[in-house]
Amino acid sequence: MGVFGYIGKNKAIPVLVGGLRKLGFQGFDSTGLAVLEEGGIWITKSTGKLVDLESKLSARTFTSTVGIGHTRWATHGRPCDENAHPHTDCHGNFAVVHNGIIENYLELKEWLISEGHIFRSETDTEVLPHLIEHYYEGDLEATVCKVLNKIEGSYALIVLSCKHPGMLIAARKNSSLVVGLGEEECYLASNFSAIPEYTKKTYVLDDEEIAVLTDGRAQFIDFQGKTKEKEVCEVNWDASVVEKEDYEHFMLKEIYEQPKVLRDTLSGRLADEKVVLKEMSLTPEQITGFNKVAIVACGTAYHAGLIGRSLIERWAKIPVEIDIASEFRYRSPLIDDRTLVIVLSQSGETADTLAALREAKRLGARIVGITNVVGSSVSREAHDVIYTWAGPEIAIASTKAYTTQIEAMVLLALYLSQAKATMPQEWNREIITELKRIPDKASEIFMQVPKIQHMASYIKESSSAFFIGRGLDWAVALEGSLKLKETTYIHAEAYAAGELKHGAIALITENTPIVALNTQRELYDKTLSNVNEIKARGAQVIGFTFKGNDSFGQSVDEVLYLPETINELAPILTVIPLQLLAYYVSLARGNDVDRPRNLVKSVTVE
Ligand code: G6P
Repeated sequence: MGVFGYIGKNKAIPVLVGGLRKLGFQGFDSTGLAVLEEGGIWITKSTGKLVDLESKLSARTFTSTVGIGHTRWATHGRPCDENAHPHTDCHGNFAVVHNGIIENYLELKEWLISEGHIFRSETDTEVLPHLIEHYYEGDLEATVCKVLNKIEGSYALIVLSCKHPGMLIAARKNSSLVVGLGEEECYLASNFSAIPEYTKKTYVLDDEEIAVLTDGRAQFIDFQGKTKEKEVCEVNWDASVVEKEDYEHFMLKEIYEQPKVLRDTLSGRLADEKVVLKEMSLTPEQITGFNKVAIVACGTAYHAGLIGRSLIERWAKIPVEIDIASEFRYRSPLIDDRTLVIVLSQSGETADTLAALREAKRLGARIVGITNVVGSSVSREAHDVIYTWAGPEIAIASTKAYTTQIEAMVLLALYLSQAKATMPQEWNREIITELKRIPDKASEIFMQVPKIQHMASYIKESSSAFFIGRGLDWAVALEGSLKLKETTYIHAEAYAAGELKHGAIALITENTPIVALNTQRELYDKTLSNVNEIKARGAQVIGFTFKGNDSFGQSVDEVLYLPETINELAPILTVIPLQLLAYYVSLARGNDVDRPRNLVKSVTVE
């Protein structure tokens, strides 16, 4: 879901549609936009894809140079044209698009209805234009400030009014919003990736900040109406990275981008024998003072966190706990100023992850954010930030963000272990030398695509699949099974290989494909025995291991040999064929690979 706005000298409709297309990667079920035509607000909405909206728009010629647009993912009320944004007040003077949730909307709605307002949708958002209508006395800025002080929740919102045709007002609280500054024109978008096509100059709105756009200028005020100064921030993404180029899907393009982005993420951060993280401001004394690390994240980022846990414990010898961000606050975590909290988030905007970050900060912890988006909430609220230089990730199923997150965890674990001198120098050199080889080794995997396509044929008709592995392979199995679930809708479960016999093996029949990972040397024989137990039940096993592991290769039905690397870096390589496996199964099943049903790219509600 996303909001987009334009005010300038060009026709607004093509710009708005272009912006919504860019935001579309976040997933949506309906779209809509509002422009000013003939002195009034003209709204077009559509359930379904953007082309449906475009076809409705093609029925008329528009001249407006100002407008707002929205891609919706239903939370309050089903997906339908009435619930799609923009929403307006009773008289059609104000139109609003909104990302997020108005938590106190029910009481506001009841009150507005008692005041005579007529609601047309089931959404929480619709209270906004009615509140504006209610309080409006000629000054839109002052009215929006007043309304924002009445509402609770999270929002990135934009207001358009036919009473102020040369103005757009936008506000944010706990939901990202960026202003793009062009030549005598301004853009608004809930995500950075919608901006670089138009301009590289941006302002990132802070929480509880309002942007007032007039005459190609942006001014900023707080919720009390006090003026704020802001600095322009240059976006470093090229517009071409948000195009599909020659790939059939963004997911495939992003899988293939991994060698490059893995290289980018390491760039400037490796010296011969040590990691150089200039962005980190911790002193060795502070690092030695931490008695615990806590990792919080959701989805794929959580799986990268699982790898990070092992690396930090192994190398930096600090105990690590890890939580799914939505669970973190509710188990009363024992966090204090001696805890280093690592927050992982591709988007940097996931609501649960941000809430966990804020809670950890409140408890006095030191926060390191690992994120892919410069200027995101995580990047601004963490004490230190390590960026993954993966570039915009458009496909909903995360691929390149995951492998670069693992790299960032490797760098951070090495950085902590260097400061504590917990590992010998020689060993540091070995890891760093191998780390530099990882991008090339990732490229080698693509030579085996025909094999992976063949493996996909084992799974494409199945209703259920298991992914198994031990140690770090188990963490990768979790990510592999998530990829399969997300893109193919096949029920997939990841199991620690040794745990299978405590229950889940009862589910295994001749028709159950098993994806077995065996890259962790000290666990090789044990995983091999687990695979043999499964084979004895008639299951078909697809195996992933290093070259030379013939006994495993002979035990499974199909095997893919990965380029060899050290145990701790193996996850970066192992996951790539699993991403491709999910991709080809999804393709074979005719699914919308880049936009799987019910999923969104960035979950900005708790
Ligand atoms: C959504 C996405 C996942 C992602 C998760 C966490 O569920 O579909 O791909 O892993 O959010 O997102 P974040 O941006 O915090 O990494």
